[in-house]
Amino acid sequence: MLVCFICGNAIHFGVQMCAESEVCMLQQLDPIASPTDSISHQRSPEQSVVQRLWRACCKTVFVQSSFRSFIEPLVRLISPGYLAGFQRAKVLMVQPIASGYLLRLKPHGGLTMLPGQHVQLRIEQAGRFVDRFFTIASSQQQLQQAGIIELAIRQKPQGQISEWLKGGITPGADVWLGDVAGQFQLHQERPAWMIAAGSGITPFRSMLQSLSRLTQPVHLIYLVKQADQAWFADEWTELCRKFPLLTVDIWATQQRSRPDLEQIAQQVAAMHADLYVCGPNALRQQLTQALAALPHWQGKLFSETFGGSSSGDSQTVEFISRAGQNLQASGQGSLLQLAEQQGIAAKFGCRRGVCMQCVCQKQHGQVRNQLTGELSSFGPELVQLCVSEAVTPVTIQLSV
Ligand code: FES
Repeated sequence: MLVCFICGNAIHFGVQMCAESEVCMLQQLDPIASPTDSISHQRSPEQSVVQRLWRACCKTVFVQSSFRSFIEPLVRLISPGYLAGFQRAKVLMVQPIASGYLLRLKPHGGLTMLPGQHVQLRIEQAGRFVDRFFTIASSQQQLQQAGIIELAIRQKPQGQISEWLKGGITPGADVWLGDVAGQFQLHQERPAWMIAAGSGITPFRSMLQSLSRLTQPVHLIYLVKQADQAWFADEWTELCRKFPLLTVDIWATQQRSRPDLEQIAQQVAAMHADLYVCGPNALRQQLTQALAALPHWQGKLFSETFGGSSSGDSQTVEFISRAGQNLQASGQGSLLQLAEQQGIAAKFGCRRGVCMQCVCQKQHGQVRNQLTGELSSFGPELVQLCVSEAVTPVTIQLSV
């Protein structure tokens, strides 16, 4: 992890300074920069070429440390869409789906993916870059043959990507795609049970649409609150027709009772099947516990989770903002959820423990990593807000 060399803030993704320090530095070096400039520094029409060059030189010489980021400001003068480490993609379509949007993108470069992997999406909104991670919802063939990927994005109240999509983003707009990563992939060695909750259906759509043949039985349970909230409903029927070994059960929890996870675990064990779970961490934990009680199960559990689960204890968390303001929150859930419930601004990206954008300094107190169950020390250390929950009273120094 990198640390801003001016203010000491934790920073990631090859950025050498936090936004505030960059503005501050540019102000010292360049009277054109204003405190309201954002990190992406949009050109204003009245800036002359000389002024822009001066500014780029300031950034290049004094601010950047890696070669890629060294050349980025200069390349952006000629090609404003260039971002080191990202490739540009064109928005082809934004289609509203139940409580969300389907975003179809055409990457400019040679993106490669495996079904089930996720990608970093970067958009520019009001002069600032916003990064989020989304599982690719489309097939590998669609990318190889048509050069297209699809992301299915759940609408979130006040979510920045949701606002951007709702704001009427039009086909032809540019976005950026970072690295494709992830280990959540289908192994056709044994029969498979797949459990998807809500937007957790996206990797399974990609996996199943990418198959040319299905050699083992696959049973997919897709949990939604109401049947009409299921994404890609007609595609599941089509896939079941194509693959006789595939069965899909769209399970509307408000119309049927919640599924009995112990019973599901028993069926998985009886079939000697592998279990694939994509949904809230709590769902994965309950299934893990249910399977642990079945020692004869020989399969494997593959999971991709989001959101936190709580240990059930409510602890007080003190957040200290960069301005030195003390803000208190208490309750259950991840530190990020607690901060947000109290309206405390905290940086985040993927919300699933991948991107490290939410890393903050814990001053004291113990936290549990919700993904691994690992307990931290009681002393100062860096923690990920999105996947850490307080075990004792905790004090967190925020990066904003
Ligand atoms: S928000 Fe990505 S790791 Fe926490």
